[in-house]
Order: sequence, then structure tokens, then C-alpha cells
Amino acid sequence: MSDTPTTVPIERVPQHVAMIMDGNGRWAIQRGLPRLAGHKAGTENLRRVIRSTVEFGVKYLTIYAFSTENWGRPPEEVKGLMLILQDVIDRELSELNKEGVQLRHIGRLEGLDPRIQKKVLKAIELTKNNDRLILNVAFNYGGRDEIVCAIQKIIKDGIPAEDITDALVSKYMFTANVPDPDLIIRTSGELRVSNFLIWQAAYSEWYITPTFWPDFDKEEYRHALESFAHRDRRYGKVASSELQETNA
Ligand code: IPE
Ligand code: IPE
Ligand code: MG
Repeated sequence: MSDTPTTVPIERVPQHVAMIMDGNGRWAIQRGLPRLAGHKAGTENLRRVIRSTVEFGVKYLTIYAFSTENWGRPPEEVKGLMLILQDVIDRELSELNKEGVQLRHIGRLEGLDPRIQKKVLKAIELTKNNDRLILNVAFNYGGRDEIVCAIQKIIKDGIPAEDITDALVSKYMFTANVPDPDLIIRTSGELRVSNFLIWQAAYSEWYITPTFWPDFDKEEYRHALESFAHRDRRYGKVASSELQETNA
């Protein structure tokens, strides 16, 4: 089995892909099923996506699983999502560990049920030496909350104002020591950020598809990577092709 999709040269494969796994509810409603059935189907798909991520040679994957705003959903749905997280850890942890996946959590762990906190910490501890794929799970995560949390820590650490730099702020984020996402994929067609990685996404490329998350398959993932491979990331500068023309 090849480690990369044949059409994307390894040097054009993004190092870090982040995903807003959206559209589970609508996927279920379209089939006359309860929303939680959509979340379960979404979880099944996540397993396939993680496997493809390893195959494609992507080193970091960040997935948005539960936002700080998702607490505002009906209590049964919130409860169901909490149970799904625990179930996923119970069922998938040993396989993920065998595949060399290192699990990390981003978001406020202390805001979760103590049983969930324990399971998450156990998963992090078990997989901490794996390095095939770093999987950041954004659960009880909000981009604004992350920035507030960072400011609080910076102040508590007594950092003088003149020492506060771009790099220092990055170190105080939940994603400290993780490169910024190169590519962010959002399923279900919504054209918004929804409080995801608002600091880290300053120069991320976006791929938005109308496909609902449970149907986002390997072919479409490959397509997203191909689209990324053709982007010219200018970072506010001038296109490299134009520079060559000017120098000619
Ligand atoms: C994304 O699917 C999963 C979570 C937010 C937990 P949604 O539940 O938002 O699905 P839609 O957007 O309602 O279809
Ligand atoms: C973003 O999706 C959060 C997750 C995928 C976990 P939402 O469905 O919560 O976002 P909005 O409400 O459409 O912006
Ligand atoms: Mg949604």
C-alpha cells in the first residue's frame, strides 16, 4: 500500500489538516432518523478518515467534535454526544494505539464530567509516545475561550507586556508546539468558522464541501488534498510565479 495518494506529491501533502465535522444532524434527518443516529454515523466515518489521514502521510489531524456553544443543544443530544465520546475511547483506543496515533485534547477538560476527564487523560497517557499521527480532539473547545484562557495564563505568569509576541501567544494556546493548520476542511457547506482555531487559522487554506460529514469519504478527502496541492499560499506577499517573471 502506498503511503501517499499517487496524484499528490509528498512535499505538497499538508502537514496539518483540521476538520469541522459538520452535518451529522441533517444527514440523519434526510433519512428520517434521530439526530443521534447521525452522530453515530459520523463517528464511524471518523474512523475511516483517521485511517486515510495516516495513509496520505498527513502528520497532524485536528477534529472539531464538540464546541463550547454545543452545550446549548437539547439536553438529550448533549448527553448522547458525551456518551459517544466515551464509547469511542472505549472501543477505538487500543486500535488507535496500535496504529501509532498519539491522542491529544484541546479545549477545557475541567468542564467535562470527571469520568470523561479520566478516560481522556488515560488515552493521552497511553498514546503519548506514538508519532505516526498526532490527533488533536477539540472537545469542549472554543477559539475565543482558548484566547481568554491564554490571556489569563500569560497574566498569571507575570509576563511583561513587551515580551508578548506572536510566538509567545501561540505557546499559550491549547495547540502549543503544533504547527498551524495548513488546510481546514468543513463539511455540510456552511461558510463560517464557528469558533474553530481562530488564532491558528490566520493563513490556513479552506476546503468547504456540501457533503455531510458521515458521507465525506476517502475520494473526497483525496480531492481536498489535491485542491490544496494547487494553492499558491502567498501570506500577504506576491505570487512566486509573478516574482519569477519580474526577475526574468
Ligand atoms: C456536527 O454535526 C457535529 C456536532 C456539532 C457535534 P451537527 O450536529 O452540527 O449537524 P447539523 O449541522 O445539525 O446537520
Ligand atoms: C461546529 O458545528 C462545531 C462542530 C462541528 C463540533 P456547528 O454545527 O456547531 O456550527 P454552527 O452552529 O452551524 O455554526
Ligand atoms: Mg452543524
